[in-house]
Parts: sequence; structure tokens; C-alpha cells
Amino acid sequence: MITRIVNAEDGLDEAVSLIKSGELVVFPTETVYGLGANAFDPAAVGKIFEAKGRPQDNPLIVHISAVGEVKEIARDVPEVFYTLAERFMPGALTVVLPKSDRIPGIVTAGGDTVAVRMPDNAFARELISRSFPLAAPSANRSKHVSPTSAGHVYDDLNGRVPLILDGGECRVGIESTVLDLTSGDPVILRPGAVTAEMLAPYLGAAPGSGKVIGTAKSPGMKYRHYAPTAEAYAALSAESAAAFYDRCAAEGKSPVLLFRDIYPDILGERSRVSLGRSVDDFMHNVYSALRTAEKEHDVIIVETLAGEGRAASVMNRVMKAVGGKTV
Ligand code: TXA
Ligand code: MG
Repeated sequence: MITRIVNAEDGLDEAVSLIKSGELVVFPTETVYGLGANAFDPAAVGKIFEAKGRPQDNPLIVHISAVGEVKEIARDVPEVFYTLAERFMPGALTVVLPKSDRIPGIVTAGGDTVAVRMPDNAFARELISRSFPLAAPSANRSKHVSPTSAGHVYDDLNGRVPLILDGGECRVGIESTVLDLTSGDPVILRPGAVTAEMLAPYLGAAPGSGKVIGTAKSPGMKYRHYAPTAEAYAALSAESAAAFYDRCAAEGKSPVLLFRDIYPDILGERSRVSLGRSVDDFMHNVYSALRTAEKEHDVIIVETLAGEGRAASVMNRVMKAVGGKTV
């Protein structure tokens, strides 16, 4: 199969036709690129698992273009969903609800809940409104780093998908927050740019953390995700990063530092991929930096962010990428 990258605006008509005929389309969102298929068509959704090499027991998010579409995807939608939707949709929030009968089991890995999200990207929403709600995971090969540009998608899925809609760099840079509303108290199964602190005023209290009770319910979290192909470590300080870098270099390896621009004196002239200056910059740049680094180096050393909120969400991904290893 030939894979083409087409500007999102120019490729939209063709993308609509492909989705309507049961094919896959890669589309941009504000978080990461998605690999979409008609969420009502089990054969089309099956192609997603094949293209990604994704285990069938990991359910997919269904993407909608308007809040009202949730009724086709889910049943017994609680009032709090609409309260959240008013504030956070479109946006980087995915909500788990009881599934409607129209959603085939392959989307939900056989489960009776479904994850729903409205992406904050006009091309994505237009594609959906002109075709169907889209079941879509991140558009990477299973276990690799999620893609934040059309080029990243091409590197992973060339020959496996017909069309990539290029909408430029994803603004947020990590996957959406997944909030489960089906198990009593709301629980965050995957942290993201929409934080517990932001959600709390709309839920009555801060949602519990998936660390305690969410891991079994969000099957995706059990896999080693977001992994670069090079050896990777999180640095407990800039000083420890510099020292480890020098040891690797002395052993003849090619290390690289993924740090923000706020430690120039400590890091000196060592090879570096910049993560920008702020926490949001770090979030925006980290996946792209991991992909750049793994192509040219064999040891990746990533800055550690302290603190709660978005900093903790980014660290959730970094610690997965490095497999928990620190220096
Ligand atoms: O930002 C995002 O969420 C991106 C863009 C493309 O929308 N999508 C994404 O999809 O990250 P994926 O498949 O890579 O991750 C979906 C996560 C997985 O951890 C999966 O296990 C969880 O959501 N999930 C999906 N359906 C679920 C359900 N019914 N119950 C619990 N967890 C669910
Ligand atoms: Mg993914």
C-alpha cells in the first residue's frame, strides 16, 4: 500500500470517502495524531489493530464532532458528562461511559464501557461530522512513542495506511486525560493536560488517581508505552545527567540530553535536544525530541519535572518511556 501525506484541508474530501468505504485515515488532533476508522464498522476497526500491531484487548477511544453525538456512542449518560463537556469539549479530555449497543465489541475490547472524546482540531471534527464517529488510537506502531507530526506517523505506518492528513504539529503533545465515570467516584485512568485540579470544580471533588484503582480498568496502561528504541533514563538532576552523559561518552557511546533551556551552564556543550522553557513546552516537545534523539544517539537522558498537575502528567509519560530507570 502506498501511503500519502496530504495537507489536511486538501485531503479532507478523500478522507471522508475513505472512511465511508471502511478504510483507515490518519488525522491530526491537538494531543497526538489519531489512526481512525468508522466506529460502527467492526471490519474497519479491525484494520486499526492490524496496522498498529496493537493487542486486541486494548480498547479504543471514539472521537465525536459535537456533544450530542455522545448519545449514539454511550447510554445512561450522566448529567456530569454534559457539565464537563461544556467546559472541556472540544479538548484533551476523554470520558469513559457505559457503551451503547451500536458500538461493536472490537472498539471496547469486549467491555461494556466506551471512551469518548471530542478533539480540538477543526479538520478532525469536520472529517467526523461528514462521515462517522471515529474509533482511533494514537497513530504510532504499538509500543512506540505517540506521533505529534505527520512525519512521525509516516515513519511508523508507511505502507500500512492509505492517507495521512497533515495538520502540522500537535499543540498539546501528549495523549488526552482519560476520566472514568462508570465506577462510582470519577477516576483518572490516564493523566494529561486536563488535570485533576482543573476537573475538581466540575465534579464536586478531585477525582481519584488511577494509580490506586484504575490500572486494571484502563488496559492500555499495563503495556510499556511511549518507548523510544534507544536506552533511556530520567535524570534526577542536571548535575547527575551531565555526569552520566560523560560516563557514557567515555565508554564510546553516543548520549544525548533532553532538557529545557534553563540549565545551560550545568549542561555545557554536550549534545542536547531542547524541550523549550516551560512545562507546557516540555509537554509539547517531549515525544518529538524522543524520536529525534533515538535516530541519532544510543543513550537518551531526559529532564525530570517536579510538581503536580501537568508536570506530573508529562512525567507519567517520561517514566514509561524510560521504563522507570533513573540516573
Ligand atoms: O489524545 C488521545 O487520547 C489520542 C488521540 C488520537 O485522541 N488517542 C489515544 O488513544 O491516545 P490510545 O488508544 O493510544 O489510548 C487510549 C487509552 C488506552 O490507555 C486505553 O486502554 C484507554 O484509553 N481506554 C480506551 N477505552 C477505554 C475504556 N472503555 N475503559 C478504560 N480505558 C479505556
Ligand atoms: Mg497510544
